[in-house]
Amino acid sequence: MRSARVYPVTKGVPRFVASEAYADTFGRQWNRWDTTQHDSHNGTTIFRDRMVRYTGWTPESMAGKVVVDAGCGPGGFIDLIENHAAAAIGFDLSSAVDACYRLHGKHPNVHLAQADIFSPPLRRGIADRLYTFGVVQHTPDPEKAFRTLVPLVKPGGEISAWVYRRRLIPHPVYWMLPFTSRLQEPQATRFVEWYAPRAMRVSGALGAVPMVGRYLRRLVPVPDYRDRLDLSEDQYLEWAIMDTHDMLITRYTFPQRWKDLKRWTRGLEDVRKPSKRDMSVVARVPA
Ligand SMILES: C[S@@+](CC[C@H](N)C(=O)[O-])C[C@H]1O[C@@H](n2cnc3c(N)ncnc32)[C@H](O)[C@@H]1O
Repeated sequence: MRSARVYPVTKGVPRFVASEAYADTFGRQWNRWDTTQHDSHNGTTIFRDRMVRYTGWTPESMAGKVVVDAGCGPGGFIDLIENHAAAAIGFDLSSAVDACYRLHGKHPNVHLAQADIFSPPLRRGIADRLYTFGVVQHTPDPEKAFRTLVPLVKPGGEISAWVYRRRLIPHPVYWMLPFTSRLQEPQATRFVEWYAPRAMRVSGALGAVPMVGRYLRRLVPVPDYRDRLDLSEDQYLEWAIMDTHDMLITRYTFPQRWKDLKRWTRGLEDVRKPSKRDMSVVARVPA
């Protein structure tokens, strides 16, 4: 006889983990900036463009499909697909899933859980498509995390990951990480609030240097989107403070190279890199 395991459902979300473990910084980040990165709230197509660049998939192409978002955060990508996919299943280790539930949990196509990629609460072969964007490089073992997700995809279905790019000369942010990622609360959040606006001012001043400004700006360890996204000045600052959490105070950050993604997807079919600029991969699970 199989013994059934019981999992609590609190605030509408089934909980398959007892705590956020190392992902608590994300819980704080995404509950505070829950709607900031939702196209439907900020009036941009930033997340739609990202999904298309990373995968070649449009939200409309999810029609009739079961789609899994592993490490869904507050649901910026679920926001795109909930009206198209037959089922959009999202899970996340942190309490970011509570933000996702507040924003998307009542949608009849959306199913959410708090769970760990290393022990996903889903049956094998459930997904027509599975994506994990900006997640596995923030786990203690990115390759194992990716490989754990592959069996969730049905034969003939597709899996995609986008990760941070590992460069030959590491960005200055990686020189700070050994110190900043060890900060505990409340110092960690206080540090981000103090640091990000100042770093943005330095980045702004460097960016104003004629000819080479946009290159100099990249040396400052702050997510300054002024050269990349079309936002208001207030939004640039808000996104910088928000993403400085990702960048500087998360416990694990392991950027990857294309050769790593090729190794992860060995044994899969039709492996492709849809975007020159982004470190993403799409592959098909053999039928
Ligand atoms: C940078 S955020 C990305 C969120 C979302 N994918 C997006 O692009 O907006 C990384 C997310 O991964 C989640 N995460 C980290 N480790 C995880 C794990 N082992 N299992 C599930 N989620 C995890 C964090 O809680 C966080 O919400």
